Amino acid sequence: MAIRSFLYYFLVFLFWHLNELSVYGAREVINHPNASPSPVSKCSASPHGFAGGSQSLRVTYKGGHCSPLGNSSQILILDQSRVDSINYLNSKTYVTSDLKATHLDSSIKGSPLDAGVFFVQVGFGTPQQNFDLLLDTGSDVTWVQSKPCSTCKKIFNPSASSTFSNHSCIIPSGESNYIIKYRDHSYSKGYYGCDTITMSRTQVYPNFRFGCGQNPNKKFSGASGVLGLTSDGDAMKRFGKIFCYCLPTKEPSYGYLHFERDAQSKCKTDKSIRLLAKTYYYVNLIGISVAQMRLEISSSFPSNPSTIIDSGTIITRLPSSIYTQLRSAFNKSMSQYPPAKAVEPLDTCYNLKGNRNPTIPQVVLHFENSNDIRLDTDTVLYKGDIDTVFCLAFAAKEKQSDLNIIGSHQQRKLNILYDLQNGKLGFGMGNCNH
Ligand SMILES: *[C@@H]1O[C@H](CO)[C@@H](O)[C@H](O)[C@H]1NC(C)=O
Ligand SMILES: *[C@@H]1O[C@H](CO)[C@@H](O)[C@H](O)[C@H]1NC(C)=O
Ligand SMILES: *[C@@H]1O[C@H](CO)[C@@H](O)[C@H](O)[C@H]1NC(C)=O
Repeated sequence: MAIRSFLYYFLVFLFWHLNELSVYGAREVINHPNASPSPVSKCSASPHGFAGGSQSLRVTYKGGHCSPLGNSSQILILDQSRVDSINYLNSKTYVTSDLKATHLDSSIKGSPLDAGVFFVQVGFGTPQQNFDLLLDTGSDVTWVQSKPCSTCKKIFNPSASSTFSNHSCIIPSGESNYIIKYRDHSYSKGYYGCDTITMSRTQVYPNFRFGCGQNPNKKFSGASGVLGLTSDGDAMKRFGKIFCYCLPTKEPSYGYLHFERDAQSKCKTDKSIRLLAKTYYYVNLIGISVAQMRLEISSSFPSNPSTIIDSGTIITRLPSSIYTQLRSAFNKSMSQYPPAKAVEPLDTCYNLKGNRNPTIPQVVLHFENSNDIRLDTDTVLYKGDIDTVFCLAFAAKEKQSDLNIIGSHQQRKLNILYDLQNGKLGFGMGNCNH
């Protein structure tokens, strides 16, 4: 009896806590008669990053029921607008070799972050004031909403910090104001400030330059700012050009983000591929397999690289001919499950109601030199708006000239080590725990 009731509560716990989380539910579509769909009011306060002085920077996921972004359809629309923006900026910047020249006019290589779902908590100033920032490998400026700002909710107050300076870290010819314009005409603007930022107990960076944002006219996923990690941004220069993260799958759990020596010692990786860091992070993706059928992706790396890895895009984008074949092979292997309505841009969806352990075909990403990354089944499907509907979590890119993008959904649970010093990207199974 005790065991049964424990099991019951365990299942209810699973249902309440995990069915809101993207694909985890694929294996746990539990239809316990008494576990009615969890009311959205069940949303608890978001877990916090590091509470002032833990060992590492925690990464939290905010994309489930409690997401400030809305339901899955809304999140995917925002995801598409980021992809459009990356392709727009990429078509402009990649042909222009001098990024500095385009910097002022297109302002900043920012892409909309509305669909950002991975947050890190960073401390600003002395004593430190903590803020949730979006983790973004596609933004180059780190900024935080700051005083004075009439419309901001949680804001950094420079006057309460004994180490803040308006100018000390700004090079003489440098700009003292910044503006990040996004393609949808929203923006963040303000002035540059310099202060200590605390990433973890051991990683404290004095006199770091960041944007003090005022009146940002959009919500940025409910974050107080952005931790910008493009290869040419300030953060990379300060953080030793090496970082690593593990993106979590479940809301109550954490991933991590490490820099410098910690990244190398704490992120175990067993695969390594060439990394071309040109604002965005380019890799040589040469194929993808589904259910043991291998599809080749043509690439000319590094002369004309066509694939990036991005923490701010959710769904992986593939050439349309490859996507069509992937979809058809996947659909064939899933024929025992009833199809469900598409959740744009995901067009291959199933109703897994009543299937506790659906058999999901294996998907493998192939990189040069036989570096194969078997994707966790949790990352192959994406939960739609209805809790029992799951869709193949890949999409076709719109134009052939668009970039292939390895999105964050497929990166989850992996240790991903960006080593700009050696031009390498390391992969390993991380599970996000240590
Ligand atoms: C998602 O949210 C939007 C806006 O609230 C709503 O119009 C739409 O019907 C929702 N979709 C589903 C399937 O619930
Ligand atoms: C820093 O300078 C900007 C404009 O240059 C000003 O608006 C802001 O109030 C200054 N901040 C502090 C804390 O002095
Ligand atoms: C998947 O296959 C089923 C038949 O098993 C078919 O009805 C459905 O349209 C297919 N879906 C896609 C997206 O190809």
